[in-house]
Amino acid sequence: MEKSHLSLLAQVPAPLLDWYYKNARVLPWRENRDPYRVWVSEIMLQQTRVAAVIPYFLRFMEQLPTIESLANAPEDQLLKLWEGLGYYSRARNLQKAAKEICMKYGGIFPDRYEDILSLPGIGPYTAGAIASISFGQPTPAVDGNVLRVLSRLLEWDADLTGAAEKKQVAGLLAAIYPAGQCGAFTQAWMELGAVICVPGGAPKCEDCPLGHICGAFGSGTQMSFPVLSPKKPRKKEYKTVFLLRCKDKIALHRRTPGGLLGGLWEFPNTEGHLDPDAATAWLTGRGLSVHALAERAPKKHIFTHIEWHMQCYLVECGNENNDFVWVTERELREKISLPTAFRKFAGELGL
Ligand code: ADE
Ligand code: SF4
Repeated sequence: MEKSHLSLLAQVPAPLLDWYYKNARVLPWRENRDPYRVWVSEIMLQQTRVAAVIPYFLRFMEQLPTIESLANAPEDQLLKLWEGLGYYSRARNLQKAAKEICMKYGGIFPDRYEDILSLPGIGPYTAGAIASISFGQPTPAVDGNVLRVLSRLLEWDADLTGAAEKKQVAGLLAAIYPAGQCGAFTQAWMELGAVICVPGGAPKCEDCPLGHICGAFGSGTQMSFPVLSPKKPRKKEYKTVFLLRCKDKIALHRRTPGGLLGGLWEFPNTEGHLDPDAATAWLTGRGLSVHALAERAPKKHIFTHIEWHMQCYLVECGNENNDFVWVTERELREKISLPTAFRKFAGELGL
C-alpha cells in the first residue's frame, strides 16, 4: 500500500465519526453492545436489507433472547424464525455456534477475535464486526459496503473482493482505528456505504463527510469503482414443481441433507420441464391417481450460483401416497418452514 493512501486514510476518522454520531440510523441492534444481538443482526444483514431484517431480528430476540435459548431451540422453531431470510445454513450455524459457546465458554460470548473467528458461520467480516462493536477492538469488518467506499476514496482500481484482498484492506483500516471508538468506526463505514456511498446508482457525494478527500469525487469517476472482475454466469436449472392436493391435504417432501436447501421441505418436484402427459406419468409412477391437472404460472428463483426456472402444475389427486408427507393448509402455514423458492407457489394453493 502506498504512503499517499495511508495519509489520505488518516484523514478519514474525524469527519466520518462526526458524521456518524449525528446521522446514525436508530436500529434495534444498536440499542446496546450485546455481542449476541450484534452477531445475530450481522448474520441476518449479510443476506437482506436493513428494513427487511428489523422485524426478523425483533422476533428472533423475543423468542430466543439469549445464547442459551438459541442453543436449545427446536430446529422447527429456528427454521421458522429464519423463513424468508434464505440461506438456512446460516441459521443452523448460528445454533451450532451457540452450542459451542455454551460448552466451551460457559455461555458467555468470547471476546478474543481469534476465538470469535473460530465459531461456526463466523468469517473475518462478522468476527471483525463483533470484536469492534461489542468489545471495542480495532478489528475492521470489511464487506462490500466498505470496499465500495474505500475503492472510491482511493480510486483503487483492483478487484478487492477476494479473501486475500479483503485481508489487505482490513490491515490498512486497522491502522486508522480510533482508540475508544472502534465500534462506532466500524458502523460508520457500514452506514456511509448504506446511505451515502450507495451501490447501484450515483453516490450522494454532495452530502458525504469524506467528499473533500475523495479521489473519485474529485475526478468524477465514482461510478467506475469498485472494479469487479467479470462474474461467472449462474448455472440455470429447469424444474417442474407439483402442487398436489388430496382433499384438504397438500403434499410435501423433505430434501436430502447437505447441499442446496439440504434437509428442508419442498413441494414435490423433478428435473426438467415436463409437458402435461409426462407430468401425469411422473405422478402415476408414484402411485397417485390424477383427477385434474392444470398448469400454473412458472416462477424463477435466484441463488448465489444457481438459478431455478420452475414450471408448475396444480393437481387434484384421488389418493395420498407414501413418497410424500401430506399436511393440512394450516400446518403448512403455521408449522412448516418452506424455503422461499417454494413458498413462491403458496399463492396458487390459496395460502
Ligand atoms: N449492514 C451490515 N451490518 C450493518 C449494521 N450493523 N448496521 C446497518 N447496516 C448494516
Ligand atoms: Fe463515496 Fe462520493 Fe463520499 Fe467519495 S465522496 S466516498 S464517492 S459518497
